[in-house]
Amino acid sequence: MTDTIVMPDASALMEGAIDPHLDLEAEIRRLRKEKNAVILAHYYQDGEIQDLADFVGDSLDLSRKAAATDADMIVFCGVRFMAEVAKILSPQKTVVIPDAEAGCSLEDSCQAAAFKAWRAQYPDHVSLTYINCSAEVKALSDIIVTSSSAEHIINALPKDQPILFAPDRHLGAYLQRKTGRDMVLWPGTCIVHEQFSAREITRMKSQHPGALVAAHPECPESILDVADHVGSTSQILKFVHDSAGSEFIVATETHIIHQMEKDAPGKIFYPAPGADGGCDCGNCPFMALNTLEKLYLCLTNAAPRIEMPEDLRLGALKPLQRMLDMAPKAKRAQDAA
Ligand code: 13P
Ligand code: SF4
Repeated sequence: MTDTIVMPDASALMEGAIDPHLDLEAEIRRLRKEKNAVILAHYYQDGEIQDLADFVGDSLDLSRKAAATDADMIVFCGVRFMAEVAKILSPQKTVVIPDAEAGCSLEDSCQAAAFKAWRAQYPDHVSLTYINCSAEVKALSDIIVTSSSAEHIINALPKDQPILFAPDRHLGAYLQRKTGRDMVLWPGTCIVHEQFSAREITRMKSQHPGALVAAHPECPESILDVADHVGSTSQILKFVHDSAGSEFIVATETHIIHQMEKDAPGKIFYPAPGADGGCDCGNCPFMALNTLEKLYLCLTNAAPRIEMPEDLRLGALKPLQRMLDMAPKAKRAQDAA
């Protein structure tokens, strides 16, 4: 755990002390009102948490939402780097996360000291860093990107500008293929998206010949090669909603299917299988640490809380703000094309 987390104080209510008869959903709604809190949830959270949230979204949507909210408290149901982004953008607000251990394999793969040494080897390169990283790594980067903003931001850079991309090598390689830009890639991966099997997806497709494959660009190239659509979580949701197809194989974290079923009732969704043909591989163990009980506790205790030194926050804000400034412009340009 990083030093950007503050744990509950000694008098805080702990998990074992929750009255088992408590209506947790009702209590969470009551506390949200009482504390003027807003609950944000990523699409990879449990369905019951998504249903309680004021806003469910992808990394870019949630960053924007975190910046725009006028609540006193942001309860971030997602992983730590997402809650850090909320704090970086809203320093005056209390930002809490249900489980402080909710990390990310991409963040873990890219420690600040190693990243700094890597950057120093390429002084002429601009450093584009996927939002799935720590505040420390953000502060060492030039521009932060999400899976829904990266392509637009790369295309907005001068053609002769050399680029470093960290920490997801599969997303980086996908962006290289999409934009034709030659980037130096950090070798990190997402443990969830890396486990899907192209062979098993192809086998599943032969059992459901009409099914379309939707994949997140954190998947390896072999999976993206068998996909009918590649996009961020919100782009995948839009594809499923707009498509004339009625069956889909979903190669991203399985909890997004909850939102797909709400958004496109009547359509059928199959979680993409892993190498053993099973589908537990699609569950992010970090996202799964956040439960309804811990959501109730973090609202009650106002902890675990994200705190960070002001110089770190300002350092991380700069490249994040560049993304937020560039992403809408790139989107308008795309819409006009
Ligand atoms: P997006 O929601 O931006 O597609 O990101 C997926 C992800 O891996 C979040 O951890
Ligand atoms: Fe990180 Fe992958 Fe989990 Fe997203 S799904 S939080 S990238 S480990």
